[in-house]
Amino acid sequence: MSIEFAERIRRMPSYPLAAGYDLGAEIALLASNESAFAPLPQVVEAAHRALAGAHRYPDPSYWPLRRALADRYGIPPERIALGNGSCDILLAAGAALLEPGAEILYAWPSFSMYPHLAAASDARAIQVPLDVDERHDLGAMAAEITVATRLVLICNPNNPTATALPLDEIEAFLARVPRHVCVILDEAYCEFALALGDPYASVELLRRHSNLVLLRTFSKVYGLAGMRVGYALCATEAFRAAVEQVRQPFYLNVAAHAAAVEALRHQDDVERRVTSAIASRLELEDGLRRLGLWVAEADANFLWARLPDGVEETDVIAGLRDRGVLVRAGRSLGRDGAMRVTVGTDAENRKFVAAMAELLA
Ligand SMILES: Cc1ncc(COP(=O)(O)O)c(C=O)c1O
Repeated sequence: MSIEFAERIRRMPSYPLAAGYDLGAEIALLASNESAFAPLPQVVEAAHRALAGAHRYPDPSYWPLRRALADRYGIPPERIALGNGSCDILLAAGAALLEPGAEILYAWPSFSMYPHLAAASDARAIQVPLDVDERHDLGAMAAEITVATRLVLICNPNNPTATALPLDEIEAFLARVPRHVCVILDEAYCEFALALGDPYASVELLRRHSNLVLLRTFSKVYGLAGMRVGYALCATEAFRAAVEQVRQPFYLNVAAHAAAVEALRHQDDVERRVTSAIASRLELEDGLRRLGLWVAEADANFLWARLPDGVEETDVIAGLRDRGVLVRAGRSLGRDGAMRVTVGTDAENRKFVAAMAELLA
């Protein structure tokens, strides 16, 4: 007889994990929107130093990181939640806010974790299609808010389409959301988004919208995806307290905590890396458009391209893999005939464009 699992296990979609980590160092990993740059040496050293104290549990308040983020964004540490990646905070938000009968609202295609929140809690997922430009349709989303809505997720810039909405549109949407409905603005890629101004601009919204949470991560712009550190800037303390209540106490390991604190001390390097990633993305976009692909207006460290009519997505993904390049198939992200490509190093980007040229020839 086999183990009997909970009913929700059958409802839960499996997260589309990137394959190919076993293919060796030569492979261009352009499938997971990571940074092309390794962590700074000072960050690696800080993590290493922290390991000397790894026989102790971490300080569960994680005060040094909360304090550093508070200083950077000008909001009290009590309104900053941390997590083992921002996914950890997302899942905790689902556990804290959702239940059978409640509704969670988000655009689709969007971040692959969002469907998990409904499945895990037996809440109803309301997915609103992106508009023709692959952007959130906030008017259509506002029309879906009901008395049952508990949580709204807006991914800005949106994963997988890389499209971003200006903050005035987001604020106009927030004005239409009742104050008891939590809105999480998932800003995993906001530091790359020129359309959003600077990463401080949305922090201002917290002053005016008591139901707002900004979700951010060290995985992308700080190049620490392997460390798993995310954070949320919250309009009130209540959200942080609720997500802490539903989780284990020591969600961040000592090395990850130390690495994140150190990473915040090197903002100039981070900004140089952003500039370089954006320049590379523009070249990548040009390369794909020259090959006849439609590329969504990107504002992140990745881009979203539709394949020309008659070109089979699975053939392209497999052909790229044979040529040493991994990208994410549109089908696994909610849209056939497309692909999501992370900006890599210049050499990786050239390898990808050359492989695409061969495949489409
Ligand atoms: C939109 C979005 N939000 C959140 C995350 C989660 O990031 P992490 O858990 O690494 O902080 C990702 C990761 O790809 C993402 O694309």
